[in-house]
Amino acid sequence: MIGLLSGYVSQRVPSLLYRVSLIMKPQVVFVLGGPGAGKGTQCSKIVEAYNYTHLSAGDLLRAERAREGSEFGQLIASYIKEGKIVPVEITINLLRKAMEETIENDEKKFRFLIDGFPRNEDNLQGWNSVMDGKADVKFVLFFDCGDEVCIDRCLERGKSSGRTDDNRESLEKRIQTYLQSTRPIIEQYEKLGKVRTVDASRSVDEVFADVKSILDKEG
Ligand code: ADP
Ligand code: C5P
Ligand code: MG
Repeated sequence: MIGLLSGYVSQRVPSLLYRVSLIMKPQVVFVLGGPGAGKGTQCSKIVEAYNYTHLSAGDLLRAERAREGSEFGQLIASYIKEGKIVPVEITINLLRKAMEETIENDEKKFRFLIDGFPRNEDNLQGWNSVMDGKADVKFVLFFDCGDEVCIDRCLERGKSSGRTDDNRESLEKRIQTYLQSTRPIIEQYEKLGKVRTVDASRSVDEVFADVKSILDKEG
């Protein structure tokens, strides 16, 4: 695992992100909240109205799980079902690659919504060691939503999502992971004055109205 990270750090040819960061540093908003809080839903709406690219860590991990020949497929599948957080060496490389590809295709696309990351201390440390100086984290957009609402939304989504973790057993584990591992990360950013909180228990449109006022203010 460590090899992946150190391999990246020590590579001789400066990475695209490094070179781009010298010109226009990627601007990042971390999007956090419990499972089913509406992160993906709101990110889609943000992308329609603002010049952001949405990267969901969960979506990237599911794509890697499905990729033929992936050496991490099995591991990712079991972590997702158990509601555990995949080792960051895997996730950060998927995020870095996705950011690089986006910028490579269009250099004006340097604003990113990174959804579902960093979800624990390991995620945060991985980000800091790989991305430090290469991207600016503007703030954390926090979708605050009670556990029961989160569970109900995921169970409803589970009727058609085909997700292996939208069931009651996995959801109880996901909520525990959220409370034990993700909330402390949000609290760390809170202490830095970097959290923008939205009451996510309301309707999609009401939540989005608050999101818009935050993004309009932040510029
Ligand atoms: P997350 O990415 O945070 O897990 P999603 O955006 O996928 O959450 O939303 C989870 C489920 O809840 C989806 O089925 C979505 O359609 C629904 N949903 C999202 N936001 C709301 C909302 N504000 N009110 C009711 N249902 C919502
Ligand atoms: O954000 P989403 O609900 O799509 O995440 C689904 C699952 O993907 C998480 O419960 C977790 O198992 C995995 N994941 C992860 N690390 C992240 C984001 C998601 O391990 N940073
Ligand atoms: Mg999601």
